[in-house]
Amino acid sequence: MTLKTDASFPWTEKYRPKTLDQMVGQTHVVPRLKKYVEKRSMPNLLFAGPPGVGKTCSAVALAKELFQNTFSQDFLELNASDERGIGVVRGAIKDFSRTIPLGADFKIIFLDEADALTVDAQQALRRTMEKYTGTVRFILNANYSSKLITPIQSRCSLYKFKPILKEDIIKYLTMILIKENVSYDQEALDAIYDVCEGDMRTAINYLQAASSIGDKITKEIIYEVSNSAQPQDIFHMIDACLEGDFLKARGFMEKLLFEQGLSGEDVINQIYKKFIVYPEDKITIDLKVKIIDRIAEINFRLVEGANDRIQLEALLAQIILLNSNK
Ligand SMILES: Nc1ncnc2c1ncn2[C@@H]1O[C@H](COP(=O)(O)OP(=O)(O)OP(=O)(O)O)[C@@H](O)[C@H]1O
Ligand SMILES: [Mg+2]
Repeated sequence: MTLKTDASFPWTEKYRPKTLDQMVGQTHVVPRLKKYVEKRSMPNLLFAGPPGVGKTCSAVALAKELFQNTFSQDFLELNASDERGIGVVRGAIKDFSRTIPLGADFKIIFLDEADALTVDAQQALRRTMEKYTGTVRFILNANYSSKLITPIQSRCSLYKFKPILKEDIIKYLTMILIKENVSYDQEALDAIYDVCEGDMRTAINYLQAASSIGDKITKEIIYEVSNSAQPQDIFHMIDACLEGDFLKARGFMEKLLFEQGLSGEDVINQIYKKFIVYPEDKITIDLKVKIIDRIAEINFRLVEGANDRIQLEALLAQIILLNSNK
């Protein structure tokens, strides 16, 4: 059995870009990385940005293009959060750096989740980086570059990865659907973008989950597999509040909680997302500000374990009251 033909093999791995050219989006990053390949030299790099947008993909693709046949000897991937300390990382870095580079003048160490290192560990990492400047380049990966100490930040060129744009996500998903021979509604792709917020890994995972349900991927299936409310249900619920109709709004809320099985936190996150984009002729900025303050309070209570239904009803009641007092 080859793993790749297995239907359960993750599409995120199957469709992981192998070269920099296969990556979509990140147009402010990819051309600069290609220059390093052309010149066969590069500084230490710091990749920062949200999850699932191509940080690991581009580090691996960069190293593969640079080293080609010697990739496995010249590239080392480590995860800083495995140990939360630097001991293991340092040992591995030392062993790796002892042997000479084969494919270029340097080797590459890719250190994932560098922002999980403690400050002491970061100091040790900084010394290690200095010690091996001759033969090793580091690519540090962090969701938040500000969590890294300044001496590390200043030793690296910073690359800020961005959430992937809607058209790029849709383009990539369409390519996968064609290769997998799966039929779909165009609206389903819009729905994936609506729930994945620019995270390609999440988008592909929802696509794969949806492809195993029914003959065709529809937007309803996407909202189901992503455990999200359909946007119109949230809009209807808020509209009912703005009309002052508590019972109607509560009806929509019950549908989300009990028919669709969403958690209170799922619902509140989506209320928040929809509120932000609500047209201003329906809700003034002034009112939005007051309601968002309430959303934050209710969200906090839900995270602390308060009752989903009571808290959401309280939020609907607050929206009605704030709107009638405006
Ligand atoms: N720019 C992109 N172009 C094409 N596919 C992408 C892109 N970004 C992410 N992907 C897809 O998402 C998966 C995850 O990407 P990757 O591992 O690079 O994310 P990451 O940015 O390193 O996330 P994390 O911060 O969680 O480590 C890849 O296997 C690939 O399928
Ligand atoms: Mg990664």
